[in-house]
Amino acid sequence: MCGIVGYVGRRQAYGILIKGLHRLEYRGYDSAGVALINKAGNLNIYKAKGKVSELEAFAADKDITGTIGIAHTRWATHGEPSTINAHPHYSESEQLAIIHNGIIENYAVLKQGLEQEGYTFKSDTDTEVLVQLIEYTQLNQGTDTKTAVQLALQQVVGAYAIAVLDKRHPDTIVAARKGSPLVVGIGDDEFFLASDATPIVEYTDRVIYIEDEEVVTLRAKSKEQVAQTQMKKEQDSESLIDITTINNVQKTPEIKRLEMSLSQLEKCGYPHFMLKEIYEQPRTLADSMRGRINMQQDNIALSGFIDNKDRFLNAKRIIITACGTSWHAGLIAMYAIEEFAQIPVEVEYSSEFRYRKPVINKDDVVVAISQSGETADTLAAIQLAKAKGAFIFSICNVVGASIPRLSDSGCYTHVGPEIGVASTKAFTAQVIALTMLALCIGKAKKTISNEKYLHIVRELGQIPNKMSLVLEQDRKLAEFAKTFTYAQNFIYLGRGYNYPVAMEGALKLKEISYIHAEGYPAAEMKHGPIALISQEMPVVVVAPHCGTYEKVVSNIQEIKARKGRVIAIVSEGDEVVKNIADYTIEVPSTEECLTPLLTVVPLQLLAYHIAVVKGCDVDQPRNLAKSVTVE
Ligand code: AGP
Repeated sequence: MCGIVGYVGRRQAYGILIKGLHRLEYRGYDSAGVALINKAGNLNIYKAKGKVSELEAFAADKDITGTIGIAHTRWATHGEPSTINAHPHYSESEQLAIIHNGIIENYAVLKQGLEQEGYTFKSDTDTEVLVQLIEYTQLNQGTDTKTAVQLALQQVVGAYAIAVLDKRHPDTIVAARKGSPLVVGIGDDEFFLASDATPIVEYTDRVIYIEDEEVVTLRAKSKEQVAQTQMKKEQDSESLIDITTINNVQKTPEIKRLEMSLSQLEKCGYPHFMLKEIYEQPRTLADSMRGRINMQQDNIALSGFIDNKDRFLNAKRIIITACGTSWHAGLIAMYAIEEFAQIPVEVEYSSEFRYRKPVINKDDVVVAISQSGETADTLAAIQLAKAKGAFIFSICNVVGASIPRLSDSGCYTHVGPEIGVASTKAFTAQVIALTMLALCIGKAKKTISNEKYLHIVRELGQIPNKMSLVLEQDRKLAEFAKTFTYAQNFIYLGRGYNYPVAMEGALKLKEISYIHAEGYPAAEMKHGPIALISQEMPVVVVAPHCGTYEKVVSNIQEIKARKGRVIAIVSEGDEVVKNIADYTIEVPSTEECLTPLLTVVPLQLLAYHIAVVKGCDVDQPRNLAKSVTVE
């Protein structure tokens, strides 16, 4: 997701816009830009790759005057992070400038039509297509900017929050939204516009939340403009806010009062980024499947796989290399790829793989998993594999990061910036991406039945809603958490697809509450850890009703027989485990290969609440970094 900011009014815009971009940098920061209209009526655009500070350095010696402007900090979706792909984008005539947060799914079709009309494009972005479409509409239908925006958006499929400047109207911003947030701040003869209220809150507490498919026109004049207008005895010297639908139905602005602090606003009201990101998962999972799973045709289309199908079909082995939580996602993928694609899989800790002189063959496929795309050990691991001729496929969340740039192909998870050091939404999106990859390979190799494939694809479509049901048990987990803060040690157990979930749950607890925890295959308990069972060491057992469920029930009974305390994650309606375990959390039933997406959520919440009760710094735990870019 990107951050957008706009200002029009009596003050110089640049300082307000830059400060607003800094407030929104948590939304994305791979490039930034600003568009300003100065007193002479020039529409100036300045853009830079990297953080907002790079833009400030670039614009330091430029003409940054003007009482109207729009600005953008980017989280790349279409087109690598670069100055050319950074927003704002000019229209062909350079009369218009646009910024955009969202994804235009039918941009390719729109672009083709505009190219046939002679339009050319400088960037790889879907956003530039939109500003050209607005200009094309304006010129061909002789409309004003607002009407051109309305008509253009009627042709758009996808999500957008946009702001448009027209140099011929240096007192007016036209903005619109659908699926991406947009807030207007009302000042005295000045208006503010942003993706959320954080850039606005220090100037005004009067806001309007723009609704889907609404177009808002903001007009405010500088002192000079008011004087000129009055001199010409023109009528429109007053500030104006006008809201219509994209079909030009007039709407009445509903002004609300902001009641949150700046810090709270960046977390959208959540106490921590980690909790916000846990709750974002139903949406981020839907985002990671959007445009890749066609629910009408029951089909998965992963472009990174389709373009390289033979490499996967001819692979004798798939090596998965990652660290930490990403390694846990890789372990889940091992079960899915071997079950559905019947290709041998090895899952390697990148730090070990890069140094142990591994045997790597040219027909190996190496899958690198990394949220940040900058983890030093994983980067080194794929450098080694690439040098030995293997095909590199990466699953990453940061477009244009080092690991995807070094890879031959890949799949972005598109969950937006993950700010909490403890990875949550990136992990579940990694599991979705890897499951889709396993299904694509299995379908192409005909090693999965069509019936099984269809059933899993349809069940994938249900996961976001089922995950929302799990999140409804947050309060129950918060209560549990108060019971277990005494513990010095936890053990987490699971089998099959849920053995990696047990490891992930243990890591979540360790890294944010500083309580020691180990994840183990449930059957391994009898080979040592059972000696540790006591009242003092809670045991978390991931026991959905699938796979080797009966064996897991036996493991729980073995723990209870030794006075252990058990927290069990079970399928809805499971009365068996409920009668044995001390505490149970129910999750909806689903396909076994998809159970990790649901069973991990209670473990994320349990770790979060225990850490909060213990007063730990949840978003920035001691000694940790969000991206380990050193060995
Ligand atoms: C997970 O909660 C941790 N923050 C850590 O284990 C992380 O998964 C690991 O450092 C790998 O990071 P990456 O996915 O960015 O490569």
